[in-house]
Formats: sequence, structure tokens, C-alpha cells
Amino acid sequence: MKIAVYSAQPYDRRFLDEARQQHAVDAVYFSDPLTLDTVPLAQGCTAICVFVNDQLDAAVLQALHALGVRAVLLRCAGFNHVDLNAAARLGLFMARVPAYAPEAVAEHALALVMTLNRHTHRAYARVREGNFALDGLLGMTLHGKTVGIVGAGQIGTAAARIFKGLGCTVLVSDPAPAPQLDGVVTRVTLDQLLAASDIVSLHCPLMEATRHMIDAASLARMKPGAMLVNTSRGALIDTAAVIEALKSRQLGALAIDVYEQEASLFFHDHSSDIIADDVFQRLMTFPNVLVTGHQGFFTIEAMREIAAVTFANLACHMNGAPCANLLPVSS
Ligand code: NAI
Repeated sequence: MKIAVYSAQPYDRRFLDEARQQHAVDAVYFSDPLTLDTVPLAQGCTAICVFVNDQLDAAVLQALHALGVRAVLLRCAGFNHVDLNAAARLGLFMARVPAYAPEAVAEHALALVMTLNRHTHRAYARVREGNFALDGLLGMTLHGKTVGIVGAGQIGTAAARIFKGLGCTVLVSDPAPAPQLDGVVTRVTLDQLLAASDIVSLHCPLMEATRHMIDAASLARMKPGAMLVNTSRGALIDTAAVIEALKSRQLGALAIDVYEQEASLFFHDHSSDIIADDVFQRLMTFPNVLVTGHQGFFTIEAMREIAAVTFANLACHMNGAPCANLLPVSS
């Protein structure tokens, strides 16, 4: 059994190779993302391993199948980029890693809030230049503030607990609320959450129903000056509407680890390139915007878990054993 790993960075290789020791599997690694053009790289492989920005539409899945690929292993939780109907039609084994240290992403959301609120990123640069002035570094005390968590699954639940621990009032909006948060948070509608929260943190999956859930109308319903945090998927937010809300000061601050058009930017060094994405570049001009490049999951523990579960999923495929991590319409 040979597996082709797409969008492979040196750190992916390190953790996947570590986990691969337990399994009789050969691996070839490609830094290229999976697209129709890069499908032929999987020649001779019956399985592939992909990440969040790889292309898994009907044409790509069809081409992989024609090449002899029978298993697609997502080394991520979200599967909004997969054409599930095409996968089912082709009878592909499609599995993911549903949870890898949800606390890692929740802790990153906290890091973004703390940084943006207390301007530690600016203070760090200032102090290194011998500038100890506090002007421009004013923050708010988080204790006693209201934090709205949109989507209280594994990551949202971890985030709710963290903010509760800081002494915040935590509101949750989720059509299927987690019972473990009973008595810890207040359940509200999305509109109530937006109107009452000083910080709104998004933790729901990207689906047609949630695409651009934060648009001009929902931004207008937010508390003026509130902070918006997105560590989930970029397209939950209408970026153009967010820029207008930042310009009008309706939105007080924005922290994102994900971006709607991130596929052409994130996970690569573009420091010597001219970035053509004007929307992204406009975001970069705001002093109250903080962007990280999809690193919420990036801890040693989560990388180990991702690698171990990815190869455990592959072992299920190889042995014909039941797999708990199949995508919803996999055969
Ligand atoms: P989960 O499946 O455990 O929880 C998602 C929750 O969202 C569920 O409770 C669901 O009922 C809720 N939900 C669905 N529709 C909703 C709506 N319209 N409004 C409010 N809530 C809604 O997923 P998990 O593991 O907590 O992950 C959440 C998302 O985080 C993933 O879908 C993925 O996109 C993102 N993620 C980001 C990472 C990063 O590195 N930045 C890493 C891992 C996941």
C-alpha cells in the first residue's frame, strides 16, 4: 500500500512518518496542493492524504479514481471542500480526523483575543525599539465581559470553558447545544448573541446554511465596537462587509485564523511576492485587525493525533474494518 500526501510541509512529514512506523504503508510527499493538474502525482498510489485547501471536487475525485485511488484521507476535521455526492458515486473510502485537541484551536482563539485586546504584538515591537510609551496600547479587562460562542461543538465547548474561567459571561448559539455546557453558559439565538456580546467567536462548520452568516445585516446587529474572532472557516464571514464595518467603527476589532480566499496564500512563504488579493491587503491596513495563517490546530499534541488517526483510518480501509471517521456519505 502506497499513499500520496499532498500539501505536505516538513512538519507534516515529520509527524506522519512517526505514525507510519506502526503501519505497513509507503508514503510519497508532495508540497503541491491537490488539483486536477496534480492528480497524476498519485500514480501508483491507492490512497491519498489531503488537507484543508486541497481540491476535492467531482472532477478531481473522478480523476483520482481513474488513476486507481480508492481511499482519501483528510488530515483535518472540516470537509466543506469535498464533493460528497461524487465521492459516494465513486465508492471512495473517505475518512477524516474529527477531533484533534479541540482545546488547541480554542486556546488559539484566546491567544488572538488576548493579543488584539492588549496589543501585545505592538508592545513587543515597540519595546524592542526602546519605545516604552503606552499610548495606543489601551485594552479592556475581560473579566465581566460577555463572550458569544457561535457553535458549541468540541472547539466551541472548549472555548466556552476558557472564557468562563476568565470570569466572562458566556452566551452560546447552536441549534444542537452540547449538554455538557448546561449550567455553565446561557443559550440564546444568534441575534441575541450578536446584540449582547463584547466578543463574538465563531466555532461552527462551514455549510450552505452558515456561509456568510456574518454579513452586513448581522454586523449591524452586533454591539458597536465589539470584537469578532473566526478560527473556524473563512467563508463564515463576508470579508467585504467586515471591511465596511471596520471602516464605520461598528466593528471594533477583528481576529481571524482563516480567510475566505486563504487557499492561494496560507501555508506558504509569500514574503517576496506581490500579493494580488486586494481584499486581504485592505484587511492588513487596519491596526485593529489580527490575522494568523490557519495555525489554530498547530500544536505537537494535535499533529500527533492527526497523524495517528489518519493511519488508523487507512488501516480500517486496508483491513475492511469498520471506521468511525467516515465522511457522511462514504460507502
Ligand atoms: P463540531 O462538529 O464538534 O461542532 C460544530 C458545532 O457547530 C455543532 O455543535 C453544531 O451543532 C454547530 N452548528 C452547526 N450549525 C450551526 C449554526 N448555524 N449556528 C451555530 N452553531 C451551529 O466541530 P468542531 O470540532 O468544534 O470544529 C468546528 C470548526 O472548527 C470545524 O468545522 C472547522 O471548520 C474549524 N476548525 C478549525 C481549525 C483551525 O486550525 N483553525 C482546526 C479544526 C477545526
